[in-house]
Amino acid sequence: MIKLETMLETEVKSSSAYASILAGKKVLISGVANKRSIAWAIAQMLYEAGAEVAFSYQGDRLKETVLELTQDMKSPLLVDCDVTKDDMISSAFQSVSDRFNGKLDIFVHCLAFAPKETLQGGYISTEREHFAIAQDISAYSLTAMARAARPLMNNAGGGSIITLTYLGAERVVPNYNMMGIAKASLEAGVRYLAQDLGQENIRVNGISAGPIKTLAARGIADLNTMMNRHAEISPLRRNVELEEVAGTALFLASPLSSGITGEVIHVDCGYSIMAM
Ligand SMILES: NC(=O)c1ccc[n+]([C@@H]2O[C@H](COP(=O)([O-])OP(=O)(O)OC[C@H]3O[C@@H](n4cnc5c(N)ncnc54)[C@H](O)[C@@H]3O)[C@@H](O)[C@H]2O)c1
Repeated sequence: MIKLETMLETEVKSSSAYASILAGKKVLISGVANKRSIAWAIAQMLYEAGAEVAFSYQGDRLKETVLELTQDMKSPLLVDCDVTKDDMISSAFQSVSDRFNGKLDIFVHCLAFAPKETLQGGYISTEREHFAIAQDISAYSLTAMARAARPLMNNAGGGSIITLTYLGAERVVPNYNMMGIAKASLEAGVRYLAQDLGQENIRVNGISAGPIKTLAARGIADLNTMMNRHAEISPLRRNVELEEVAGTALFLASPLSSGITGEVIHVDCGYSIMAM
């Protein structure tokens, strides 16, 4: 378990009051595949901050892993949700509503997929079907899930929706290809959703994380070269840690960020500011 209190004491040198900043808040986290998942780091951080957590995972094959990871948490809700299926999205949010008495404060969208063929060589060879799959899972799912979360967040008096993105949305990153196009669409979605939901006090933001060796990232050809270059060039001269991404998610989930919506925050050791 990531100890939020310890991290705050050593890194931020602040009061441990933040350790209960999400007390009583109800959270749904999507995208835990294993212990290296960004979603798992965020889940632990939000749980340590006092939130009640529910998890949506992709298919039965992941159920055992999520069950095992969450065994020390207070009976979290686990729901199967393949985001390509509208009926699974509605039944997942129905289960969340049943568990949390019709309310949801925070939704973490932490999933993406693009067919392997689109993550090597040139973007120009992307096929129509592969393009559609990547957009559907990686970008449209945020819209579909935000729509399902909306009534529950209305019942809670507002909410915070957080998604994960990457610099490949803004700039060309060799081999990221189709995922860059999908992330650009996701980031535009963050802004349009922020506009649609702002009057309901629902905030929508993205975290643009530097490269981290996760299952999804391993699908990108030449990931090691990408990470080495990142560590060499970024102002902090290193790669970002899972805990740092999770800490930003905690900030975006908490009232500390109440004035921020439609934003994409880079958590990348500064890499994105560099031109050379
Ligand atoms: N790892 C990185 O370097 C990095 C950097 C920036 C952003 N991100 C983003 O972070 C998010 C989480 O990825 P990760 O790196 O932790 O990898 P991960 O492999 O641990 O997580 C990806 C998740 O997407 C889920 N998923 C894929 N297709 C799905 C579907 N049809 N229905 C439901 N879930 C589905 C998988 O089950 C998995 O849990 C993704 O959006 C990714 O693009 C990752």
